[in-house]
Amino acid sequence: CGIVGYVGSQSALDVVVAGLKRLEYRGYDSAGIAVLADGGMAAAKKAGKLANLEKELVERPLPTGSTGIGHTRWATHGGPTDANAHPHLDNAGRVAVVHNGIIENFAALRAELAERGHTLSSETDTEVVAHLLAEEFSACADLAESMRLVCRRLEGAFTLVAAHADEPDVVVGARRNSPLVVGVGEGEAFLASDVAAFIAHTRSAIELGQDQVVELRRDAVIVTGFDGSPAETRAYHVDWDVSAAEKGGYDYFMLKEIAEQPKAVADTLLGRVDASGSLTLDEVRIAPGALREVDKVVVVACGTAFHAGLIAKYAIEHWTRIPCEVELASEFRYRDPILDARTLVIAISQSGETMDTLMALRHAREQGAKVLAVCNTNGSTIPRESDAVLYTHAGPEVAVASTKAFLTQLVACYLVALYLGQVRGTKWGDEIRAVVRDLSRIAEDVDRVLETMEPVRELARSLADKNTVLFLGRHVGYPVALEGALKLKELAYMHAEGFAAGELKHGPIALIEDDLPVVVVVPSPRGRSVLHDKIVSNIQEIRARGARTIVIAEEGDETVVPYADHLIRIPATPVLLQPLVATVPLQVFACELATARGNEVDQPRNLAKSVTVE
Ligand code: G6P
Repeated sequence: CGIVGYVGSQSALDVVVAGLKRLEYRGYDSAGIAVLADGGMAAAKKAGKLANLEKELVERPLPTGSTGIGHTRWATHGGPTDANAHPHLDNAGRVAVVHNGIIENFAALRAELAERGHTLSSETDTEVVAHLLAEEFSACADLAESMRLVCRRLEGAFTLVAAHADEPDVVVGARRNSPLVVGVGEGEAFLASDVAAFIAHTRSAIELGQDQVVELRRDAVIVTGFDGSPAETRAYHVDWDVSAAEKGGYDYFMLKEIAEQPKAVADTLLGRVDASGSLTLDEVRIAPGALREVDKVVVVACGTAFHAGLIAKYAIEHWTRIPCEVELASEFRYRDPILDARTLVIAISQSGETMDTLMALRHAREQGAKVLAVCNTNGSTIPRESDAVLYTHAGPEVAVASTKAFLTQLVACYLVALYLGQVRGTKWGDEIRAVVRDLSRIAEDVDRVLETMEPVRELARSLADKNTVLFLGRHVGYPVALEGALKLKELAYMHAEGFAAGELKHGPIALIEDDLPVVVVVPSPRGRSVLHDKIVSNIQEIRARGARTIVIAEEGDETVVPYADHLIRIPATPVLLQPLVATVPLQVFACELATARGNEVDQPRNLAKSVTVE
């Protein structure tokens, strides 16, 4: 969910709604706002996208006030209805609360409140907080203190932002696990899940830590722990470009982000690679001595980031000979994994806020493992809680389906693998230096792929009425196939599956029927040529059973030509780096298919960009 709070002299309604627009990527199944005006609290909320709320505000305007809070929701407790939308108010309508996360003990609190005569009108866990705050406030007449008292009774993960009609120039926020940042302006202050909500107004930000409460006034920001003790905070300057968060002339953020990939890849390499093929990763603050001791690498991540992790495994094991496991973050801690001080855990996350990944890394650290975050969002929770971080420099990614962040995650993972190899002095020294040099040229290859995408778009449009598309790959092409299938599910809502091409004959080949589109990612004929020959056989096997083959192959690879109904060319790259170019046509393919099927590209149904619940 996305949260905004404002205290100042502008119209809170305008500031909060504009902020919510920037946060809609965090969830968009309902939205709401509350404004303090004329000594009371006025609220509006609506199921569906923010546009529905805006329409409601035109039809039934709220009074003007300069203190307000707002929310754009990704439903957890209770479906996406008007009643379940935030903010939630107490029975007297004096206090309003918005919330991100899950309050795990809400059922007990709800029962307790009902016993004391409260009537709760929604199915959400959030509403109990409004009622508890109202009770505490009636005793102490101090909203920040009420928030601290309530937070001490809550279990789970939450970010809360509240306002009370009896303290009209105050907004109070609380944070446990889910993100919350403060923006400090001239005579005004902001609270938001992400700086994107307020960078149009101020670039001075304060990071809130775990279990902290913030009291926001026009000219003061007071941060304490849940126990009331003063808290240390870190102020920082936000250097994101406002226009970077805008579409920049493209119809969709996703298209813009796909086009930005060459720059994102180059930016992630910037300052980390030198001409001789050596790497400098000063940010990896884990001492080289400790890295030499590492005897196992475990990658944890979700969604697209997990696919980056699967590819990382090939690179890490090849260049370092350290065994590497890759696991879905949501599964990791529940199977009691074997970890110790010699385990290096790599947590990959674009947002740095994914709860599953955060919980996995906390578990790893509790077991004594070292955690290195690969993350795109400066100051987010996952890097803050890790031993070290290697930032990807993709810039803000707004479209829910990840594209440029994925490519930069790959680059960062290659850098980690190569760096581990460099530090440990493996026998692959020469190969490592050669690959580092190749990596520095890869942005141009990505650019070349982007220039040749028109036939891919045409092909996608011609498949708009299909129900199923399969994806096959071997070696690093297998995770690429998984990512191609995920993109299609997310964007085109089509049945799409990725398989290891060698596994096809053990079951999935039964799915092949006449004219079924099957995308095959063909490994380079150089290097591991055995794999190449095997996949060429696989293409023949499926074609013989009627599949329509869509073959992604290196320029100059002529062996595949007779078996390709559609041929998509990618530049020749070193074997392990091929995903950086092979994924791009699959992103374009999914995006165009979504458009052709009339789907919303940037905000696919049921999804959220950053999922801060487990
Ligand atoms: C969500 C998004 C996915 C993303 C995943 C992991 O489910 O919809 O696109 O890959 O979270 O996100 P992260 O921010 O941790 O990379």
